[in-house]
Amino acid sequence: MKIFADTANLDELRELKSLGIIDGATTNPTLLSKEIKRLYPDFRAHNKEELMEKGKEVLKEVCEIVDGPVSAEVIATDADGMVEEGKKLAKVHKHIVIKIPFGAEGLKATKRLSAEGIRVNMTLVFSPSQGLLSAKAGARYVSPFIGRMDDISNSGMEVVRILTEVFSIYDFETELLVASVRHPMHVVEASLLGADIVTVPPDVIKKMLKHPLTDIGLKRFLNDWESLLK
Ligand code: G3P
Repeated sequence: MKIFADTANLDELRELKSLGIIDGATTNPTLLSKEIKRLYPDFRAHNKEELMEKGKEVLKEVCEIVDGPVSAEVIATDADGMVEEGKKLAKVHKHIVIKIPFGAEGLKATKRLSAEGIRVNMTLVFSPSQGLLSAKAGARYVSPFIGRMDDISNSGMEVVRILTEVFSIYDFETELLVASVRHPMHVVEASLLGADIVTVPPDVIKKMLKHPLTDIGLKRFLNDWESLLK
């Protein structure tokens, strides 16, 4: 199973990369705007084009850190606009994958971008039927948002279970990218179901590193060893 970092924060990405466990990254307009505000607190774009340029600048830096696919999301909501933006974003770096929000327009854009060899990550997927249509349209990745489903008392993991099975029955090349991960058990459960990728926020990765018995055990080993010192 591949692990992606669900962040656009350059410092967090550098730190996670140094752990040697990151295969890619996912961003979205929320994560990217947060990083632009962190890096350039006084920046305010005069128009949408200028804003897009700033986004591309940060995405390029993300791609230079991450040695793998980096999802960058379109802002347009119509298929023509999504395709146009997708093509511009794809030129930023060879790692870029275009994130398209699910819907009729998103499916049309996915078909067109995929036909041109541009990889698409279909985002905002909340049901098996949405995931199935995304794969049919040629999406390289399909991202069910499991935490947001759990938030409204739907089982996010059940959608993951069904989609892993459907993709394998029909031999789709589409990879299941589990998103909206909130805690370490989401990662473990997704891996048990055979998800291809889980995109994990840095705070959840930090929690995955910790176990009180590891800390206690290390302290005891060091104390026992040092007990031989005068
Ligand atoms: O990639 C974005 C997705 O993971 C969203 O997560 O926590 O905002 O539902 P969240």
